[in-house]
Amino acid sequence: MKVERNYNLLKHNTFRMNCKCAAFVEYSSETQLLEAISLELPKPWFHIGAGSNLLLTGDFPGTVFHSKIRHINVLQDFDGTSDGASDRLSGEKNIFVEVGSGVVMDEFCEWAALQGLWGAENLSNIPGEAGAAAVQNVGAYGVEAKDIIVEVRCIEATTGAKCIFRNGDCGYGYRESRFKGEWKGRYFITEVIFALSASPKPVLDYGNLRTAVEGKLESLGLGQADLSPRIVREVVIETRKGKLPDVAELGSAGSFFKNPVISEEHFRKIEAESQTKVPHFVVEGGIKVPAAWMIEQCGWKGHSEGNVGVYSKQPLVIVNLSGDAKPEEVVALEQKIITSVEERFGVKLHPEVEHL
Ligand code: EPU
Repeated sequence: MKVERNYNLLKHNTFRMNCKCAAFVEYSSETQLLEAISLELPKPWFHIGAGSNLLLTGDFPGTVFHSKIRHINVLQDFDGTSDGASDRLSGEKNIFVEVGSGVVMDEFCEWAALQGLWGAENLSNIPGEAGAAAVQNVGAYGVEAKDIIVEVRCIEATTGAKCIFRNGDCGYGYRESRFKGEWKGRYFITEVIFALSASPKPVLDYGNLRTAVEGKLESLGLGQADLSPRIVREVVIETRKGKLPDVAELGSAGSFFKNPVISEEHFRKIEAESQTKVPHFVVEGGIKVPAAWMIEQCGWKGHSEGNVGVYSKQPLVIVNLSGDAKPEEVVALEQKIITSVEERFGVKLHPEVEHL
């Protein structure tokens, strides 16, 4: 276990904010975590993953924890059939996999695809870690982490008690969970149990994913019967790389805002006032209008001010253009975008990125 004082978090946030915390703890096992929480470390406590969905707004006066629990184990005798098992794969003969909270999600997705196991391929190339994926309910191309999460294993921060939550306990919604809401800061996730399937379970209905996958099969001289999680993974990676900045080259925290859901009436008003076709998706509770579209309509796409900017290929992403952006610059741009979208469309955008 590593405990550092007055620690710079530059390497621990993909936005590359130059901010410090009073103490930083990195642990590789549950025992080490229990040892760490028994120390008199400065409060408040905050747990990070890869820092890929995080905006540090200044120096943090407390302790930042980071998991390096990094095993991927297939569970042979796990009973995942009872209440709370993942909706998407329930009723199937699943393979249950225990993934340490510090495993990079994409390493798990790659592992699953190489085993020929279905379920995680659409989540390929997301820069976060497994523990954070269970908190944030990360999602991409029609699949969310909650669709394959069966169980989340945690340590309660104040008591050190071991707690196990089934999928149904976690209050999952679009980029939401109890870990982000009423339980915020209460539990440190040590492992996530995912359900994967050996029989084909492709989810290809998002955007042009199906067409892209068919094109890929054709280019490889393969037919539908050859479709594999590896092929879907490759297409997802190519699609993401074409749209989203590589955090190793350009600092960002992925989508900065959530996609808002508005009423049908509100949508019709926007449609009537718009010169162009308004992209939208009917979802539970209303109509989802891509925040990227609204931000683009307000003229922000590719806009830059000082060290920050709105990514030219995907306006939902705010980028650290020079690498030297200050948190205040990001927050100022965020506020301007929120205000202009609200004035133009009457829709209040909410950040997807966590602010610390
Ligand atoms: N759009 C534009 N202009 C653009 C780009 C997109 O108008 O320049 C509109 C289009 O209508 C497009 C729609 O936005 O059809 C959706 O775009 P995209 O498929 O890229 O998805 P998104 O809604 O912008 C969401 C997630 C991403 C995830 C993609 C793919 C959120 C907040 N973001 O973005 O997740 O990769 O779908 O599934 O839900 C992340 O959370 O960090 C993230 C990258």
